[in-house]
Formats: sequence, structure tokens, C-alpha cells
Amino acid sequence: LPVRKLGIFGGGTVGGGIVEIIQKKQDYFKELTGHGIEVAKICVRDASKKRDFDVPSGCIVTENYDDILDDDSIDMVVEVMGGTTDAKDVVFKALSKGKDVVTANKALIAKDLPEIEEKLEQCPGAEFRYEAAVCGGIPIIRSMQSDFPGDDIDMLSGIINGCTNFMLTSMDKGGKSYDEALAEASALGYAEADPTLDVGGFDARSKLRILMRLAFGIDVDEEDIACRGITELSKLDFDYAKMMGGTIKLVGVAKKVDEESVAAFVSPCYVTSDDSLSSVNGATNAVEVISSNLQSSTYIGQGAGRYPTANSCINDIVALAKGDKAPMPFNPFGKGKKFVNSYDSVF
Ligand code: NAP
Ligand code: HSE
Repeated sequence: LPVRKLGIFGGGTVGGGIVEIIQKKQDYFKELTGHGIEVAKICVRDASKKRDFDVPSGCIVTENYDDILDDDSIDMVVEVMGGTTDAKDVVFKALSKGKDVVTANKALIAKDLPEIEEKLEQCPGAEFRYEAAVCGGIPIIRSMQSDFPGDDIDMLSGIINGCTNFMLTSMDKGGKSYDEALAEASALGYAEADPTLDVGGFDARSKLRILMRLAFGIDVDEEDIACRGITELSKLDFDYAKMMGGTIKLVGVAKKVDEESVAAFVSPCYVTSDDSLSSVNGATNAVEVISSNLQSSTYIGQGAGRYPTANSCINDIVALAKGDKAPMPFNPFGKGKKFVNSYDSVF
């Protein structure tokens, strides 16, 4: 069988990690998939920029999208450049050309989910996978797609942004200022290219919107989800939280209000020291799913950063290269529920 040739859009934190893992594991991937995986081209904004990873020999680094999109030998596109305009163009064109797509882009999925679903229906030959888009290295998408067909989810909640959890931990336990904590999170590759998405709670909201779709089948406009970030938190808030024996975490919650409706929010919350979330520190994410059969299941792991996120992309890439049958990408549970935008409905 011929090698699976990849075109990667983005050679930054996540893209670099993907290239490194493929290089390191190429012999094993060849055995595993029967034909191997090769990074043929990488598309970036500035092809002359020095990369912090080794570009594989023979791999072309380009600024021209069509170098990948028009190359028929490339049958899998990995979109890890971020944003919702050029990235959308790339993803939609790749699907139109029958190429499989792997993406880590929650902003794009959360914003244009109905359009993406429509596009996928029009392109039945192309697969779409996005494990890295929610909670970095945690296999939460796969679990939500596969593990609840006989179950009913009542609530999901937790820490779903690594950058802000890293910042809150540094501010609470490391005595760092907000600015120092943000600078450190950015340097470690946890922050979005526009960190307002993290600190404003918007990245968490995008992820919650995607999880809500998987858990409840609900199609909510993400802007309707009540959202508060961490920008207004001060040392005093942490002092008060400590005084009361707890800490502050940025939490996302989505809860079934009744059989027909779901409520959700993203907000900094006071958590007591006996709450399991209080010991989830650094860039770690944790999501608790409450459901009828399984009752409480918690998914925990690294929510951001080069290798945890690249690992999720690699899992998608390898699954596609092996020809694994893809689960339904978004909604195995049925549509039709109403969204109630109210904190009161959650508590
Ligand atoms: P990043 O480090 O900023 O890298 C972005 C890469 O994409 C860069 O190589 C950049 O090129 C390229 N790029 C950006 N805009 C482009 C455009 N319009 N045309 C061509 N190339 C473009 O970002 P990242 O942290 O790897 O994140 C990438 C995606 O993964 C985002 O959707 C993000 O939300 C998602 N994600 C990130 C993490 C994480 O922990 N970092 C975790 C989960 C998901 P240059 O290098 O030439 O500037
Ligand atoms: N900026 C995001 C976060 C990356 O910190 O959670 C992972 O989605």
C-alpha cells in the first residue's frame, strides 16, 4: 500500500509536535497502519521562519494553501493553524476534494458546527476528526462519541481550559501576578494565539458548546452561553477563597434542566478543598460526566501544550491511516432540545 501523505496547515506549538511524533514513531506507524505516514508538506504564514522542530527531509514548507489542497497525492489534511476564516476555507476545500481532515480547532467547530455537518453530508468520502479540539490530550471526544449510546447524560462540568487553570494555579499557589502567569502560560504554548480567548472564557465556551452537542444533541449558538472569564480576578479573591478553605477555578457546566432543555455557563467558581477540582492544577483539565448508567465518570489529563495536544491529533491521524471506521462526528444522541440561558437553572 502507498504511504499516507499528510499536508499540515500550521507549524507552531501543535503542528511541530505532530511532525516530531511522526518522525520519532515512523517505523512503528508503518507496522501499525501497513503503509506508513509521511509529512509531505507544511503550510505556514512565514515559510522563512526558523522552526523549533526538524522539518523532515523531502517535506516542503510553503505559504501557499493550494500547494497542499491541489496535491492529489495528499489525502489527509491536518489543520492546526487556528482561526475561523482561513482555517474554515482550508477545511472546507480539503473536504470538497475528498481529503480526510484532522483538526484541533475548537473555535472553528463551535462557530460553524451546523455548516460543518452539512459539508460532511455533502462529502461522504472524507472523514473529519477533532479529538484535540477539546481538552487537549484527554480522549474526551472519542469517549463522548462512543461510550454513551445506552446512557443518558444529565450533566457535564469541569475545568476545560488549560491556560487559565495554569494561571490560576500560579496566582494562587505560586504567588504570581496575573501578567506573569499569562506570560508563562503563553511561553509554555498553552495560550491561544489571541489569549483573550482563554482569559475571557471564550475558549472554554467553545469547548462546552461542542461537548453539549455530543452529550445532549443540542445545537446552541455559543454566544448564548453565559460566559465570564478570569480577567477580573484579583489577589483579594484568592485571599478570600483561601480564608474560606478553598480556591477559585474557571469552570464550565452544562446541565439538563428537564427532558427538553439544557442550561450552561462558563465562570470562575469558588471550589471547596474537598472538591476534586480543587486539586486539578497547572494545565490539567478535568471533566465529570453524570449519567444514568455510569453515574459519575471523570476524565482528567493534560488539557493544553505541544505533546498532549499533538498526541490527540496523532491518534486521529493513525486511526484514519489504519482505516478505522469513524464514529459519527457530532451527535449520536438526537437533536431537538431547547437551550435555557440561566445560571439559576444550573444550580
Ligand atoms: P501556534 O503555535 O500559534 O501555531 C500556529 C501555526 O499556524 C503557525 O505555524 C503559523 O505560521 C500558522 N498559521 C497561523 N495562521 C495562518 C494562516 N492564516 N495561514 C497559514 N498559516 C498560518 O498555534 P497552536 O498553539 O499550535 O494552535 C493551533 C491550533 O490548535 C489552534 O486551533 C488551537 O486552538 C488548537 N489547540 C492548541 C492547543 C495548545 O495547547 N496550543 C491545544 C488544543 C488545541 P507561522 O509559524 O509562520 O506564524
Ligand atoms: N488554549 C487552550 C487551553 C488550548 O489552554 O485550554 C487547548 O485547547
